Amino acid sequence: MRKNIVAGNWKMNTTLPEGVKLAKEVNAALANATPKCDVIIAVPFTHLASINEVIDKSKLGLGAENCADHRSGAYTGEVSAPMVASTGATYVILGHSERRQYYGETSETLKEKVALAFESGLTPIFCIGEVLEERENGTYFDVVKAQIEDALFHLSAEDFSKIILAYEPVWAIGTGKTATDDQAQEMHSFIRNVIAEKYGKEVADNTSILYGGSCKPSNAKALFAKPDVDGGLIGGASLDAESFMGIVNAFE
Ligand code: 13P
Repeated sequence: MRKNIVAGNWKMNTTLPEGVKLAKEVNAALANATPKCDVIIAVPFTHLASINEVIDKSKLGLGAENCADHRSGAYTGEVSAPMVASTGATYVILGHSERRQYYGETSETLKEKVALAFESGLTPIFCIGEVLEERENGTYFDVVKAQIEDALFHLSAEDFSKIILAYEPVWAIGTGKTATDDQAQEMHSFIRNVIAEKYGKEVADNTSILYGGSCKPSNAKALFAKPDVDGGLIGGASLDAESFMGIVNAFE
Protein backbone atom coordinates (compact mmCIF):
# COMPACT_ATOMS: atom_id res chain seq x y z
CA MET A 1 0.00 0.00 0.00
CA ARG A 2 1.01 3.60 -0.46
CA LYS A 3 2.97 5.36 2.23
CA ASN A 4 2.13 8.44 4.23
CA ILE A 5 4.99 10.91 3.86
CA VAL A 6 5.88 14.31 5.26
CA ALA A 7 8.76 15.92 3.38
CA GLY A 8 10.40 19.26 4.09
CA ASN A 9 11.60 21.41 1.21
CA TRP A 10 14.05 23.89 2.68
CA LYS A 11 14.38 25.78 -0.64
CA MET A 12 17.22 28.35 -0.62
CA ASN A 13 17.32 28.76 3.13
CA THR A 14 19.90 28.15 5.89
CA THR A 15 23.68 28.40 5.79
CA LEU A 16 25.53 25.12 6.24
CA PRO A 17 25.87 25.46 10.06
CA GLU A 18 22.21 26.50 10.36
CA GLY A 19 21.13 23.60 8.16
CA VAL A 20 23.15 21.03 10.11
CA LYS A 21 21.65 22.38 13.34
CA LEU A 22 18.10 22.13 11.98
CA ALA A 23 18.70 18.60 10.67
CA LYS A 24 20.06 17.57 14.07
CA GLU A 25 16.97 19.02 15.77
CA VAL A 26 14.59 17.11 13.49
CA ASN A 27 16.69 13.97 13.92
CA ALA A 28 16.59 14.32 17.72
CA ALA A 29 12.83 14.85 17.69
CA LEU A 30 12.43 11.64 15.69
CA ALA A 31 14.83 9.59 17.82
CA ASN A 32 12.23 8.53 20.35
CA ALA A 33 9.19 8.98 18.14
CA THR A 34 7.24 6.50 16.07
CA PRO A 35 5.56 8.73 13.51
CA LYS A 36 2.79 7.29 11.36
CA CYS A 37 4.51 8.52 8.23
CA ASP A 38 7.90 8.51 6.54
CA VAL A 39 9.80 11.74 7.16
CA ILE A 40 12.14 13.30 4.59
CA ILE A 41 14.09 16.55 4.39
CA ALA A 42 15.15 17.99 1.02
CA VAL A 43 18.00 20.42 1.53
CA PRO A 44 20.41 22.59 -0.50
CA PHE A 45 23.11 20.68 -2.41
CA THR A 46 25.84 22.23 -0.25
CA HIS A 47 24.32 20.66 2.87
CA LEU A 48 23.73 17.11 1.69
CA ALA A 49 27.00 15.39 2.61
CA SER A 50 27.23 17.05 6.04
CA ILE A 51 23.61 16.36 6.94
CA ASN A 52 23.97 12.77 5.77
CA GLU A 53 26.58 12.34 8.53
CA VAL A 54 24.39 13.60 11.38
CA ILE A 55 21.01 11.95 10.78
CA ASP A 56 19.66 8.46 11.35
CA LYS A 57 18.60 7.54 7.84
CA SER A 58 16.35 4.77 9.12
CA LYS A 59 14.16 7.54 10.61
CA LEU A 60 14.80 10.53 8.39
CA GLY A 61 15.18 10.41 4.61
CA LEU A 62 17.46 12.87 2.83
CA GLY A 63 16.92 14.45 -0.56
CA ALA A 64 18.07 17.18 -2.91
CA GLU A 65 15.78 19.90 -4.26
CA ASN A 66 16.78 19.44 -7.89
CA CYS A 67 19.35 17.76 -10.13
CA ALA A 68 20.80 18.45 -13.56
CA ASP A 69 19.34 17.18 -16.81
CA HIS A 70 22.75 15.79 -17.84
CA ARG A 71 24.82 13.03 -16.29
CA SER A 72 28.16 14.87 -16.31
CA GLY A 73 30.25 17.23 -18.41
CA ALA A 74 30.67 20.90 -19.22
CA TYR A 75 27.62 22.31 -17.44
CA THR A 76 29.17 24.87 -15.12
CA GLY A 77 27.36 25.22 -11.82
CA GLU A 78 25.08 22.23 -12.25
CA VAL A 79 24.82 19.27 -9.86
CA SER A 80 24.09 15.85 -11.33
CA ALA A 81 21.94 13.00 -10.04
CA PRO A 82 25.03 10.76 -9.50
CA MET A 83 26.62 13.57 -7.45
CA VAL A 84 23.49 13.83 -5.32
CA ALA A 85 23.40 10.05 -4.81
CA SER A 86 27.09 10.02 -3.85
CA THR A 87 26.33 12.20 -0.80
CA GLY A 88 24.03 9.54 0.63
CA ALA A 89 20.80 11.29 -0.38
CA THR A 90 18.10 9.01 -1.74
CA TYR A 91 15.38 11.45 -2.85
CA VAL A 92 15.23 14.36 -5.26
CA ILE A 93 12.48 16.94 -5.73
CA LEU A 94 11.82 17.48 -9.45
CA GLY A 95 9.58 19.91 -11.28
CA HIS A 96 8.94 22.26 -8.39
CA SER A 97 6.90 25.23 -9.61
CA GLU A 98 9.72 27.60 -8.63
CA ARG A 99 12.04 25.73 -11.00
CA ARG A 100 9.40 25.72 -13.74
CA GLN A 101 8.65 29.46 -13.25
CA TYR A 102 12.09 30.97 -12.61
CA TYR A 103 14.42 28.53 -14.38
CA GLY A 104 12.33 27.55 -17.37
CA GLU A 105 11.99 23.86 -16.59
CA THR A 106 9.80 22.05 -19.09
CA SER A 107 8.38 18.56 -19.28
CA GLU A 108 11.18 17.74 -21.73
CA THR A 109 13.96 18.63 -19.26
CA LEU A 110 12.04 16.92 -16.49
CA LYS A 111 11.90 13.68 -18.45
CA GLU A 112 15.71 13.72 -18.56
CA LYS A 113 15.96 14.49 -14.87
CA VAL A 114 13.57 11.69 -13.94
CA ALA A 115 15.56 9.21 -16.05
CA LEU A 116 18.85 10.29 -14.48
CA ALA A 117 17.36 10.17 -10.98
CA PHE A 118 16.27 6.56 -11.57
CA GLU A 119 19.66 5.68 -13.03
CA SER A 120 21.27 6.90 -9.78
CA GLY A 121 18.77 5.13 -7.57
CA LEU A 122 17.10 8.35 -6.40
CA THR A 123 13.37 8.51 -5.72
CA PRO A 124 11.81 11.53 -7.44
CA ILE A 125 9.32 13.66 -5.54
CA PHE A 126 7.64 15.04 -8.64
CA CYS A 127 5.71 18.33 -8.31
CA ILE A 128 2.69 19.44 -10.28
CA GLY A 129 0.18 22.22 -9.80
CA GLU A 130 -1.70 25.05 -11.44
CA VAL A 131 -1.17 28.81 -11.15
CA LEU A 132 -3.88 31.15 -9.85
CA GLU A 133 -5.12 32.13 -13.31
CA GLU A 134 -5.64 28.46 -14.19
CA ARG A 135 -7.50 27.87 -10.93
CA GLU A 136 -9.72 30.86 -11.65
CA ASN A 137 -10.41 30.10 -15.31
CA GLY A 138 -11.27 26.50 -14.49
CA THR A 139 -8.48 24.81 -16.51
CA TYR A 140 -6.69 23.41 -13.46
CA PHE A 141 -7.61 19.78 -14.01
CA ASP A 142 -6.39 19.91 -17.61
CA VAL A 143 -3.16 21.66 -16.59
CA VAL A 144 -2.28 19.13 -13.91
CA LYS A 145 -3.23 16.18 -16.13
CA ALA A 146 -0.97 17.51 -18.91
CA GLN A 147 1.95 18.02 -16.49
CA ILE A 148 1.71 14.37 -15.44
CA GLU A 149 1.15 12.99 -18.94
CA ASP A 150 3.88 15.03 -20.62
CA ALA A 151 6.67 14.32 -18.12
CA LEU A 152 5.81 10.89 -16.74
CA PHE A 153 3.48 8.83 -18.92
CA HIS A 154 6.28 7.50 -21.11
CA LEU A 155 7.45 5.54 -18.03
CA SER A 156 6.80 1.85 -17.54
CA ALA A 157 4.35 1.01 -14.74
CA GLU A 158 7.31 -0.30 -12.75
CA ASP A 159 9.17 3.01 -12.96
CA PHE A 160 6.06 5.12 -12.45
CA SER A 161 5.41 3.19 -9.23
CA LYS A 162 8.69 4.51 -7.79
CA ILE A 163 7.57 8.13 -8.01
CA ILE A 164 6.13 10.21 -5.20
CA LEU A 165 3.80 12.93 -6.52
CA ALA A 166 3.30 16.31 -4.86
CA TYR A 167 0.32 18.46 -5.82
CA GLU A 168 1.28 22.04 -5.08
CA PRO A 169 -1.19 24.66 -6.28
CA VAL A 170 1.15 27.56 -7.07
CA TRP A 171 -1.29 30.10 -5.61
CA ALA A 172 -0.96 28.37 -2.23
CA ILE A 173 2.85 28.28 -2.07
CA GLY A 174 4.32 30.69 0.46
CA THR A 175 1.15 32.77 0.36
CA GLY A 176 -0.52 31.59 3.55
CA LYS A 177 -3.48 30.73 1.32
CA THR A 178 -3.85 26.96 1.70
CA ALA A 179 -6.09 24.97 -0.58
CA THR A 180 -9.05 23.81 1.50
CA ASP A 181 -8.96 20.15 2.41
CA ASP A 182 -11.87 19.61 -0.02
CA GLN A 183 -9.99 21.34 -2.86
CA ALA A 184 -6.94 19.17 -2.13
CA GLN A 185 -9.02 15.99 -2.00
CA GLU A 186 -10.81 16.87 -5.25
CA MET A 187 -7.51 17.26 -7.10
CA HIS A 188 -5.79 14.29 -5.48
CA SER A 189 -8.68 12.03 -6.35
CA PHE A 190 -8.62 13.39 -9.92
CA ILE A 191 -4.87 12.68 -10.15
CA ARG A 192 -5.38 9.14 -8.88
CA ASN A 193 -8.00 8.58 -11.58
CA VAL A 194 -5.64 9.90 -14.26
CA ILE A 195 -3.01 7.41 -13.05
CA ALA A 196 -5.57 4.59 -12.92
CA GLU A 197 -6.63 5.22 -16.53
CA LYS A 198 -3.03 4.88 -17.68
CA TYR A 199 -1.50 2.30 -15.33
CA GLY A 200 -4.49 0.64 -13.66
CA LYS A 201 -6.08 0.87 -10.24
CA GLU A 202 -3.36 -0.99 -8.37
CA VAL A 203 -0.59 1.41 -9.43
CA ALA A 204 -2.89 4.39 -8.74
CA ASP A 205 -3.80 3.10 -5.29
CA ASN A 206 -0.13 2.57 -4.45
CA THR A 207 1.03 6.07 -5.49
CA SER A 208 1.70 8.50 -2.64
CA ILE A 209 0.29 11.93 -3.50
CA LEU A 210 1.45 14.71 -1.18
CA TYR A 211 -0.12 18.14 -0.82
CA GLY A 212 2.06 21.26 -0.72
CA GLY A 213 1.27 24.93 -0.23
CA SER A 214 1.09 26.75 3.12
CA CYS A 215 0.72 23.48 4.99
CA LYS A 216 1.26 24.01 8.73
CA PRO A 217 0.54 22.22 12.01
CA SER A 218 -2.84 23.95 12.25
CA ASN A 219 -4.18 22.70 8.91
CA ALA A 220 -2.21 19.48 8.35
CA LYS A 221 -4.56 17.24 10.28
CA ALA A 222 -7.63 18.14 8.20
CA LEU A 223 -5.67 17.85 4.94
CA PHE A 224 -4.12 14.49 5.84
CA ALA A 225 -7.49 13.13 6.96
CA LYS A 226 -8.68 13.23 3.35
CA PRO A 227 -8.59 9.80 1.74
CA ASP A 228 -6.40 10.73 -1.24
CA VAL A 229 -4.00 13.08 0.59
CA ASP A 230 -1.02 10.96 1.63
CA GLY A 231 1.00 13.65 3.35
CA GLY A 232 2.66 16.96 2.64
CA LEU A 233 5.57 18.71 0.97
CA ILE A 234 6.36 21.49 3.38
CA GLY A 235 8.21 24.72 2.65
CA GLY A 236 8.23 27.49 5.27
CA ALA A 237 7.01 25.34 8.15
CA SER A 238 9.86 22.85 7.61
CA LEU A 239 12.44 25.47 8.63
CA ASP A 240 11.56 25.11 12.28
CA ALA A 241 11.91 21.66 13.86
CA GLU A 242 8.94 22.14 16.16
CA SER A 243 6.50 23.22 13.46
CA PHE A 244 7.79 20.51 11.09
CA MET A 245 7.25 17.89 13.79
CA GLY A 246 3.80 19.36 14.40
CA ILE A 247 2.98 18.44 10.81
CA VAL A 248 4.62 14.99 11.08
CA ASN A 249 2.50 14.34 14.16
CA ALA A 250 -0.68 15.34 12.33
CA PHE A 251 -0.83 11.68 11.24
CA GLU A 252 -2.41 9.85 14.11
P1 13P B 1 5.18 26.63 1.62
O1 13P B 1 4.88 25.51 2.58
O2 13P B 1 6.18 27.62 2.15
O3 13P B 1 3.93 27.26 1.10
O4 13P B 1 5.91 25.95 0.36
C1 13P B 1 5.35 24.83 -0.22
C2 13P B 1 6.33 24.29 -1.19
O5 13P B 1 6.60 24.88 -2.22
C3 13P B 1 6.99 23.00 -0.86
O6 13P B 1 7.67 22.50 -1.95
